Amino acid sequence: MATSSCCSLRSILFSSPTNLRSNYSLPKYHLTCSPFSSSTASRFESYSVSSIGTGSTSRKLSHTRRKVLEVRSMATTTAEEKKRVEIYDLEENLAVDLAKFTADLSDKFCKERGAFTVVVSGGSLIKSLRKLVESPYADSIDWARWHFFWVDERVVPKDHDDSNYKLAYDGFLSKVPIPAGNVYAINESLSAEAAADDYETCLKHLVKTNILRVSETTGFPEFDLMLLGMGPDGHVASLFPGHGLCNENKKWVVSITDSPKPPSERITFTFPVINSSAHVALVVCGSGKAEAVQAALKKTGTVPPAGSVSAEEELVWFLDKPASSKL
Ligand code: 6PG
Repeated sequence: MATSSCCSLRSILFSSPTNLRSNYSLPKYHLTCSPFSSSTASRFESYSVSSIGTGSTSRKLSHTRRKVLEVRSMATTTAEEKKRVEIYDLEENLAVDLAKFTADLSDKFCKERGAFTVVVSGGSLIKSLRKLVESPYADSIDWARWHFFWVDERVVPKDHDDSNYKLAYDGFLSKVPIPAGNVYAINESLSAEAAADDYETCLKHLVKTNILRVSETTGFPEFDLMLLGMGPDGHVASLFPGHGLCNENKKWVVSITDSPKPPSERITFTFPVINSSAHVALVVCGSGKAEAVQAALKKTGTVPPAGSVSAEEELVWFLDKPASSKL
């Protein structure tokens, strides 16, 4: 098992990567014109939320979405307008579209800036990424340019069954040729607090070496793609309902030692980091999550942490039908 850690990667991080163009910048929507029309916004929202279907339905919707984005590119774009909800009759179809979504972004970012920074959560998300390690993507994706991170990690040995590293390694990393030096695991030999500081330091080195961009809007790191799951209580990463860490607005990475979901000791990215990502996918399946999905998307009752997720360019909720049953 490859066991890179932030500490052991330092020497690699300081050396100038040959596969990166320096001072790159990505095209962004220009947000200078008149406000986005609310009638267009509601049409978009209804297309999105009613998109129950197969992969081909989703492809048609992608076309619609492109058209809406053309209109939107001339408008002021709010977090709500950057949000899209895709609903799938089968988790299998969700997995197919999630793979295409990720592969398309990989192509775009690898071409534009010579690197693709991807963050994953633990949980069932890793299984939903299974199509990405199969044909045609296994051979077509430029894996050497991937940089792989965790939005949260449990402070346990890497070969422990609770380790998000182990989960991702067994289900994903062991099947694709991402260079071991581009896999940023935590240093689990440290305390939770020190491991969080260590990971934040690691991210700051990656900013210096131009692997990670910084959001011009927020000043926090801007990952190209963040792939998140959501718990039945609506938590994302290790940001749990009612926990003070949900309000952290300065640090990039924090520790938690009283996680309500075991194990109790973890590190997690903060909301400013999650929400500074260019693209975020929130992947949620199963009827046990329907209430939290409803509360997060419809803002009913107490809005759980998942309802605070946003993205700089695009937030896509990938839901199966049972998870969307209360929308
Ligand atoms: C963790 C996770 C956590 C997870 C959700 C969803 O390490 O616990 O990163 O945020 O993604 O709890 O997990 P499930 O999809 O397995 O319900």
